[in-house]
Amino acid sequence: MDGDVRINPYLTGNFAPVRSEDDFTLQVTGELPRELAGALYRNGPNPQFEPRDPNYHWFGGDGMIHGFFVENGAVRYRNRWVRTPKWELEHAAGKSLYGTFGNPMTTDPDAMGKDSGVANTNIVWHAGRLLALEEAHAPFELDPVTLGSKGHAAFGGKVTAHPKTDPVTGELVFFGYADAEMPLSPTVSYGVTGADGILKRRDRFEAPYSSMIHDFMVTSGHVLFPVLPLTGSLQRAMSGLPPFAWEPDKGAYVGVMARDASVDTIRWFSTDACYVFHVMNAWEDGQKLIADVMRYDSAPLFPNADGSRGHNAAAYLVRWTFDLAGDSDTIKEEKLDDLAGEFPRYDERYTFRANRHGWFAAQSVKPGDFRSNAIAHIDLKTGSRTQWEVPMGDAVGEPVFAERSADAPEGDGWLLTVVHRGAEDVSELVVLNALDVAAGPVATARLPCRVPFGFHGNWVAA
Ligand SMILES: [Fe+2]
Repeated sequence: MDGDVRINPYLTGNFAPVRSEDDFTLQVTGELPRELAGALYRNGPNPQFEPRDPNYHWFGGDGMIHGFFVENGAVRYRNRWVRTPKWELEHAAGKSLYGTFGNPMTTDPDAMGKDSGVANTNIVWHAGRLLALEEAHAPFELDPVTLGSKGHAAFGGKVTAHPKTDPVTGELVFFGYADAEMPLSPTVSYGVTGADGILKRRDRFEAPYSSMIHDFMVTSGHVLFPVLPLTGSLQRAMSGLPPFAWEPDKGAYVGVMARDASVDTIRWFSTDACYVFHVMNAWEDGQKLIADVMRYDSAPLFPNADGSRGHNAAAYLVRWTFDLAGDSDTIKEEKLDDLAGEFPRYDERYTFRANRHGWFAAQSVKPGDFRSNAIAHIDLKTGSRTQWEVPMGDAVGEPVFAERSADAPEGDGWLLTVVHRGAEDVSELVVLNALDVAAGPVATARLPCRVPFGFHGNWVAA
């Protein structure tokens, strides 16, 4: 269409990729706590080349790891691309070869059928391995110091970006979706890797329909699989419509099973159409399973099934209760807070237990804007909430908790978040007192460049 210039929003502003891999010692303002020693690893999309797909989606960019290494009050920074098979193939070709989400309609014939993994969503430490994760491929191992790429780790297939580490057994509990030969299938897999890093179990089952399942819930005894109507359809993709789209008429389900049971015992609970990208925490209370999740009325960032633009709803923290002893398969829902947010986190020493403290990136000015402008702390015991806001034009990232010491009380420690300063177009690592976020940064470490908006990070204590 003449004169129709489309600018992809995921390639502009601080969504745009950076083109270099750097090593810097950062300038620190304030005082970094001496107890804070370790590394914050953060992952996010950073396409190596201009995407060939006119419908490039933010979730489809090559993973880049940003490492902040904290020691003795100083911070070193290092960023490296994850050198996936896709990254290597495109690097050799000198251009982009893949359609977003491996869409065959926009993939170069040279890359058709080849591994399209981008390893761009999360980065976790398990069994002595640093693993970059995304939605639909095997975890990718990196060197924790150099961030050099080591290759895919063996998990028996796909693993999504939000596996859970069992704090008692050390197991990594995970799932995969659309896990069949046919793309965008309703097949879901459930798996467990032992504390030794060796795969113990991997089983498949059929969900009510094909959907994007970003996160799930695990408790000490159960596992819960949300199947929410951000649906996947190969037929739709092949007719030039979106592979993933919002289709509320499909209904919303959560499959519940005992962790040690067979997948054919899954019981499907239901709720009103909604979408959840992220779970804060989940635990058991007698015969009830409780999960605190960030709930949207409709899936943001995705179109409707006819290709029309979707509604960028905001997410709010709600508590889901599943009564295993009851007759009803309806999920009980209670809104916990009225501040829009994303990236809910907690003190992970409280995994599988009722956590009192939670944190999230919040949107106090423009609910539903991905560019969150605040870090919020919620006290789930009292219901009180406090927040730290950044000036207009700046944006905060996910707040990652680091405890003061292994035996410190719940919440006693710091939050680390990567903040983009819009006016200067640079990023900072900001350290907040986790139980007093409103007091503002304890310390900031400024980069001479920016870190593009990304997804998840984790703190690995030295
Ligand atoms: Fe996520």
